[in-house]
Parts: sequence; structure tokens; C-alpha cells
Amino acid sequence: MSVEIVAGDITRLVVDAIVNAANETLLGGGGVDGAIHRAAGPDLLAECRTLGGCPTGQAKITRGYRLKARHVIHTVGPIWQGGGAGEARLLESCYRRSLELAAEHALGSIAFPAISTGVYGYPLEAATEIALGVAEDWLATGRAPARLVFVCFGDAALATYRRIWAARARA
Ligand code: AR6
Repeated sequence: MSVEIVAGDITRLVVDAIVNAANETLLGGGGVDGAIHRAAGPDLLAECRTLGGCPTGQAKITRGYRLKARHVIHTVGPIWQGGGAGEARLLESCYRRSLELAAEHALGSIAFPAISTGVYGYPLEAATEIALGVAEDWLATGRAPARLVFVCFGDAALATYRRIWAARARA
């Protein structure tokens, strides 16, 4: 059972599933979504077209195609509207539903980007508290996946994740 916090490009990770920070159409976009679709190739979009979209806070799984990861778990984070529109509950649900899908498919490892913290504007600190809080709770259950990787895009995100994880370990 482990949590890893690394810097880099999630599309390059060798894990059972990478998580995509998608939108409700599941038909691609910018940011990490665009990078994942470019790396996976057009067959990923073709499979996504069969899914009928995905509500905010939920998740759906596809194959990984040209990625090293066997699967992509597409989840839709909330758009930040100031914090009073249920954003925290929805973001927590993204992480939890992604982990549940991975468990249902008996996956051993999963990698997350910082969902909602780019185009969707969720403040990084608050989003990181949620991501790592769900991770801690999940590891305590002993369910698969046993290896959780958080992929930080840039040094600022890496420093934030490491600091918050260390503070949680001390608490
Ligand atoms: N690897 C890891 N993390 C990345 C990568 C990468 N290759 N590229 C970006 N990030 P965003 P959102 C980080 O905007 O806020 C899309 O258009 C980035 O630095 O990708 O959930 C979708 O289609 C940030 O920390 O996703 C939606 O319309 C994090 O990934 C919308 O954006 C998330 O940033 C979703 O917005």
C-alpha cells in the first residue's frame, strides 16, 4: 500500500490506470485531457463517443490504447465557483469514484492529475487537501488499488502536495 507524489507528465506513467480530468462530454479538451487523447490516439475518442458523457463528480473507464497505462478513468471535476456550490463534495466524489472503478476492475495502481486545478480553477491547496484526504482514507480500507500515484505538473504543485502530505502524516 503506498502513496507516491511525483512530478511529470501523466501520459508517460506505467500504471494500470491513469485518471483523466475530463469534461461532461468526454469528447476531449485542453490541458491533461488533450494530452491524454493525443498520447492514446484516436481510438480513445472513438470509445469515449460510446459512453454518452459523464456527470460532474462521476467516473467512467476505457482502455488506454497507445498509452503505457492499460486503462483511462475519465472523471469530471467541478468548475470552481467560489466554494459554495458543492465543489468540495464533487471533487471528493471524483477521487472516490475513480478508486471504486479501479477496485471493481481489480487494478493494482492508479495515477491522478490535480483534477479541477487547471482550466476549472479550483484552488490548488484546497484541492490537494481533498485528493490526499481521500487517498489516506482509501489506503486505510486495504482495498485495491494499493498503489496511488499523484502526478504534479510543475514544481509548485509538487511542493504543495509534498507539504500537505507531510502535514497529514504528522497530524
Ligand atoms: N500530466 C499531468 N498533469 C497535467 C498535464 C499532464 N500532461 N497537463 C496538465 N496537467 P486541466 P481541469 C495538470 O486544465 O482543471 C480540459 O479542457 C494541470 O497543470 O487539465 O480539471 C477538459 O476537457 C492542472 O494542475 O483540468 C475540461 O474541459 C491539472 O492537470 C477542463 O479542461 C488539471 O488541469 C477540465 O479542467
